[in-house]
Amino acid sequence: MRVVGRIDSAALKRASGKRRARPAGTDGRIVVVHGAKGGSGTSVLAASLAAALARHAGPVALVDLALASADQDLLWNLNCPLRVDDVLGADGHELADALVGHPPGVRLLAGPLGPAEAETISGSAIGPLLSELAERHPYVVVDTSSELSEVTVCALEAATRILVPIVPELPALRGTQRLLSMLERLGLDLAVVQTCLWVRPGEIDAAAVTRVLGRAVDWQVPWATKVVQESVNAGQPVAIAQPRHPLATGIARIAANLAGAPSAPVASGLVDRILALLSRWRSKSPPAQAEEPVLAKNVDVTEPRASVRSVGLVTVAPAGPRMTDR
Ligand SMILES: Nc1ncnc2c1ncn2[C@@H]1O[C@H](COP(=O)(O)OP(=O)(O)OP(=O)(O)O)[C@@H](O)[C@H]1O
Ligand SMILES: [Mg+2]
Repeated sequence: MRVVGRIDSAALKRASGKRRARPAGTDGRIVVVHGAKGGSGTSVLAASLAAALARHAGPVALVDLALASADQDLLWNLNCPLRVDDVLGADGHELADALVGHPPGVRLLAGPLGPAEAETISGSAIGPLLSELAERHPYVVVDTSSELSEVTVCALEAATRILVPIVPELPALRGTQRLLSMLERLGLDLAVVQTCLWVRPGEIDAAAVTRVLGRAVDWQVPWATKVVQESVNAGQPVAIAQPRHPLATGIARIAANLAGAPSAPVASGLVDRILALLSRWRSKSPPAQAEEPVLAKNVDVTEPRASVRSVGLVTVAPAGPRMTDR
């Protein structure tokens, strides 16, 4: 399975040894936005979701863990003297000083400026960091990179909801197949995962994505090139710049649904399960070829793939309003 090559197992081992449990009493919800491919609109979605949640439910901590492409400070036009790599291991007060506020209640913890700073961030620090923030905010929204790095996996492990944006393109669909089958093989309850399809008229639609993934698309939100580009360059998320735009109202519905979601993390032990899976793969000979057939080589958007069904992807239909045409 190709995804093995994207995981740093030595780093995961270190994280596994050093993690500490999420403290009792933490009841903030941790929403991790994670696209299976680079350029999935993960950061754009995370920014507007944070704004919508803040409007809905009070202060939101937005944490930029997209280590190689940490741009939330640009998307919000914020000057952030302290960044996530400056505050790992900090107590609540020091952490609060690093958050930079923006109306209507988003507090940004910016990501590292460059690779040297990013390298100092270990996965073992992520759970405690997110827990600390969740104790002080009703919601924590986490922007991630598409790589299943140690940091990303530790963020997924802490999540109470994982939101997966999908662009209507074949590589994105296959990447999402891979991600879902990987998470399911790791024993993650896929009910915590919701997909969000960016809708582009005339392109791959929700019905086709549903067939490919073997589960319903949870949200559909319009792709809006001009509006998003303007918002990115102005440093103002669409949810703030144009709250009545269908893209903003679609994301507002996701936020409203999140307000009723459970707050317990469901993915505890994810790092350990990844390590166990890696060691099982390595004990087989030859491992890479042996695991390869799990994922479709060619994504067929007209028929569900037997290989998708064979890994047992489930249909998740959470309660709540949907911006769908179903
Ligand atoms: N809903 C959307 N409508 C139109 N364009 C979008 C939308 N979402 C993202 N884009 C465009 O795609 C670009 C990349 O989006 P974004 O940075 O959110 O992706 P990403 O998945 O976070 O990428 P990376 O892997 O680099 O972190 C944006 O700058 C914007 O131009
Ligand atoms: Mg990004």
